[in-house]
Amino acid sequence: MQWRHKDLLDVSQLSREEVDFLFETANYFQEINSRPVKKVPTLKGRSVVLFFAEPSTRTKTSFDVAGKRLSADTFSLSKSGSSLTKGETLKDTALTLQAMAPDAIVIRHCYSGSAQFLAERLNCSVINAGDGRHAHPTQALLDGFTLWQEWGEFSGKTLLILGDISHSRVARSNVILLNMLGVKVRLCGPRTLLPPSLAGWPVEVYSELREAVRGVDAVMCLRLQLERQQAGLLPDLREYAATYCLSEKHMTLAAEGAKVLHPGPMNRGVEIASSLADTNESLVLDQVASGVAMRMALLFLYMTRKEGK
Ligand code: CP
Repeated sequence: MQWRHKDLLDVSQLSREEVDFLFETANYFQEINSRPVKKVPTLKGRSVVLFFAEPSTRTKTSFDVAGKRLSADTFSLSKSGSSLTKGETLKDTALTLQAMAPDAIVIRHCYSGSAQFLAERLNCSVINAGDGRHAHPTQALLDGFTLWQEWGEFSGKTLLILGDISHSRVARSNVILLNMLGVKVRLCGPRTLLPPSLAGWPVEVYSELREAVRGVDAVMCLRLQLERQQAGLLPDLREYAATYCLSEKHMTLAAEGAKVLHPGPMNRGVEIASSLADTNESLVLDQVASGVAMRMALLFLYMTRKEGK
């Protein structure tokens, strides 16, 4: 398949055929990550800027590792180390980076729409690494890839997304992707942490965790996005955990062999019982490993694409 997209803003841009192709490409690159020498010359001479204006451990590091394993040159810029702190605008920062002629810019920013804002102004590829509460397409793709490796196929599967749906770009991108793949999606969380309107969302909504988890093939716990929440949405963390923290006991109600995912970072004992996070049912570290392979696939396809949107 010839990859013709210039930018990755959300998974809604992708067709089912393109998502399948991404899984196969990531699967191919994952083998490299198990070799003693984890480096190939595929992107030698190409460069990618990792522009993270919000904190990140997994996404930033895995894009960096992915680029280096493909022999691309990677350059990192954080908000605190940049002239954004001196008042330079996002647009001027991006144009400055583009003047250094990278092949791609990976951006994370607290403003929803920031990746699209750059994509409309820059000639190089823009890959959205999380924009506000809008989208986190590379997380959804690595989650889908992790489940593809686990399940083989998606039809007939049901997945529960649990927790702070309202502020979660991971939930938004995953609902779109999982629906495209044929997975039935359930949502569960306190009313104050669900979007005000779920009209048009292809999901079933539950308020009781014990009902929501019944018979599902996987549960994706979400981090409480305290930095994006206004005060007063939750009575307190202890009460939230008492009602919505996923435990081994809840998982006895799920389908046999059901798996647990979390995009990280985890608040153990708040969203997921610490002991559950460390069981064989937990795919949390598989998601991290899948993230490197998926981001290798994305960098390869976007940085070697044919010209045109
Ligand atoms: N899942 C995720 O985006 O993690 P980081 O914030 O550590 O990148």
